Amino acid sequence: MGDSQVLVASNRGPVSFALADDGTLSMRRGGGGLVSALAGLGGDILWVCAALSDADRAAARRVEDGRLDAYGAGAVRMLDIPAGTFHRAYNAVANSTLWFVHHMLYDSPNTPHFDARSRRDWQSYEAYNAAFADALARDARPGAKVAIQDYHLTLAPGMLRERRPDLKIVHFAHTPWAPPEYYRLLPDDIGREVLEGILGADHAGFHAQRWADAFIDCCAAVLQAKVDPVARTVTHAGRVTRIGVHGLGIDGDSLRARAAEPDVQARKKALREQVGDRRLIVRIDRTELSKNIVRGLAAYRELLAKHPEWHGRVVHLAFAYPSRHDLPEYREYTAAVQRIAAEISDEFGDGTWEPLILQVNDDYPRSLAAYGLADVLLVNPIRDGMNLVAKEGPVLSERGCALVLSREAGAAAEMDDDALMINPFDVSQTAEALNQALLMPPDERAERCARLTAAATTLPPQEWFGAQLAALDGQL
Ligand code: F6P
Repeated sequence: MGDSQVLVASNRGPVSFALADDGTLSMRRGGGGLVSALAGLGGDILWVCAALSDADRAAARRVEDGRLDAYGAGAVRMLDIPAGTFHRAYNAVANSTLWFVHHMLYDSPNTPHFDARSRRDWQSYEAYNAAFADALARDARPGAKVAIQDYHLTLAPGMLRERRPDLKIVHFAHTPWAPPEYYRLLPDDIGREVLEGILGADHAGFHAQRWADAFIDCCAAVLQAKVDPVARTVTHAGRVTRIGVHGLGIDGDSLRARAAEPDVQARKKALREQVGDRRLIVRIDRTELSKNIVRGLAAYRELLAKHPEWHGRVVHLAFAYPSRHDLPEYREYTAAVQRIAAEISDEFGDGTWEPLILQVNDDYPRSLAAYGLADVLLVNPIRDGMNLVAKEGPVLSERGCALVLSREAGAAAEMDDDALMINPFDVSQTAEALNQALLMPPDERAERCARLTAAATTLPPQEWFGAQLAALDGQL
């Protein structure tokens, strides 16, 4: 990564805190691609993140300048953004507006509905981004590289550029990007601000070519910027931003090492005892609207209805972990998942065979165990920036799993030769793909799975991050 200082900015940091009744704080480390990318990178790195909860805010306040080094968290600055500002920026703008636009989740006869209240929410989003830009401007040494992550922080690159023109800035979008016709649902000034914010960066990265192209198209349509889709550059307001495609992959060795640990092995044994020698269709998701869990379960129901030969011979393990329960849409979606799961169990369960096991409590080692046992992995998002489940499953699968994959996931670009591709809105097609996957001969399954594993591990987190830093030096 060279000698220069690197700052990373993201909403969610590498650690979180819990506050006991007696006021004691305990710290927990998180996972995810960014944590792996930075682990072992060494050198001069500072991670700037937001306090997400009251416990985080208490932890940030107890140390000077929110520097969590004092807790043994490493070089992390946690920003104590006022709770109201944070909630409006995170829930109302980032997760209810930008997330919905990029994943195309609106029910357009009714939503979105931008009114006076949305303006106040937007001002909070601006203040939240400004808090990051201020912290980064203060902590960055001359010529430092700054890697700003995702849809929470689209304005921060431009704000930081104004404060510190000497810095090299990369923004990375982990979500899809909406095409211009859909992006234009945003109020005009907000749509422009988001694009201009990202164009404050020297380099803007995306997981897939499709999302990079959509971003370039939005810059042309909304800003009338000068774009070169072949050279992948956008010129606007006298500056050039280079657009890059860096599809995040998996570190296969460290994932396999984690899966070999006793807690995973114990869960594997328990799962095997629960399902016997039946075939296993596995899905693992946050209970997130874009993950399309309800249609996935409907497809399983259709499979059982159309193919009674599978009765008693297959079990669907559906892990749907809690997510964003501050938002009513997510609470309702969780209830809808539970409803259809109960219907399937009532309709087909016969006392000796449990056709569906739905688990809603988060259990990472159990997820790793399920990957190991899966015969079929179902990944059917409506839209997804990348989807790392599609990559982790083949890497850990013991006998080679067949992957049923939505064509709308970023991972599709790298895996569509060997996955069974589906339109996520077509429940009948998904049901038939599940049937094909169950019928796939073992040799073919293993061969496809080996190629899927190779694709999944092409750009592991450290290289993914390194490629973005190299792009800042003009090396890509
Ligand atoms: O998909 C993009 C992403 O940033 C993921 O990396 C992450 O899991 C999610 O969105 C954000 O989730 P949360 O709201 O739980 O931080």
